[in-house]
Amino acid sequence: MDTPSTAGAKADFSSIYTAPDPRPYYTTLAELDYQIPGTAMGLVQRALEAMGGEPQILDLACSYGINGAILRTGTPYDELQSHYADPALADLSTDELRQRDREQFCSSVRQSRVVRGLDASAPAVQYAVDVGYLSEGWAEDLESDEPSAQFAAGVAGTGLITCTGGIGYLGVPTFARVLGVLDDPHNVWLMSFVLRMYSFEQIAAECERYGLVTEQLPGVLRQRRFADEGEQRTTIEAVRSRGIDPEGYESEGWYVADAFLTRPASAVRERPLESLFA
Ligand SMILES: C[S@@+](CC[C@H](N)C(=O)[O-])C[C@H]1O[C@@H](n2cnc3c(N)ncnc32)[C@H](O)[C@@H]1O
Repeated sequence: MDTPSTAGAKADFSSIYTAPDPRPYYTTLAELDYQIPGTAMGLVQRALEAMGGEPQILDLACSYGINGAILRTGTPYDELQSHYADPALADLSTDELRQRDREQFCSSVRQSRVVRGLDASAPAVQYAVDVGYLSEGWAEDLESDEPSAQFAAGVAGTGLITCTGGIGYLGVPTFARVLGVLDDPHNVWLMSFVLRMYSFEQIAAECERYGLVTEQLPGVLRQRRFADEGEQRTTIEAVRSRGIDPEGYESEGWYVADAFLTRPASAVRERPLESLFA
């Protein structure tokens, strides 16, 4: 198991993002009580109900298709975590695990719910698509590169964009490039879960260029515990410098995230935020 290296900043998990299968990801993060995909997808489910129909979803920084797995198979996050951290599965090859996952989780996947994914990690995206957690996926880094023609064509019909644990890695360039390839960027919804050390303002401003309005949901979501004191110290400083009181959250040892809903101004007028998440 790789140990995250830290230098006072956020722990470096790059090796668990690029392993051939999700076991190191879930096992390492379970030790830190990682939990945001589960709670975030509960809120995304509410947004989907408010939107009506079956909008096509694009999950940014999708990793091993965690959000896709929850949304397409109905498997709770805790169950996915226990599965991948199960010592009884530790000796399986990646091929054996993939086959088993396909049978266990995706034999009755909700095909009508389209969840596509983007992540910089090719092995993670490949695993998610192979098992069926994602309908389609692309390993691209839109922070530095233009989107491929395949990505642009594949995600054009997106109605809802989701992002958990990704902002900080992803910023305005990715969001601008994704919005730029959509057929109807003026009508897309976004649900973004953002650690309180980061600002969502610039991404919200990019969305505003398409007439999309961003509102912050009340409350915060726990993401995970800090890996060490260095992470906690730098996060508390960053949160304070943004004018946020860390008491009860970061001061208690937790990374916590704000939730933002971005949608067309007409939808904001028709369905006030409070009525969606009451
Ligand atoms: C903390 S994980 C979040 C994964 C998942 N959404 C979740 O909630 O558990 C961050 C992800 O961002 C991805 N990532 C980092 N930089 C990226 C970039 N420039 N473009 C796309 N994905 C990136 C990593 O590969 C990793 O899968």
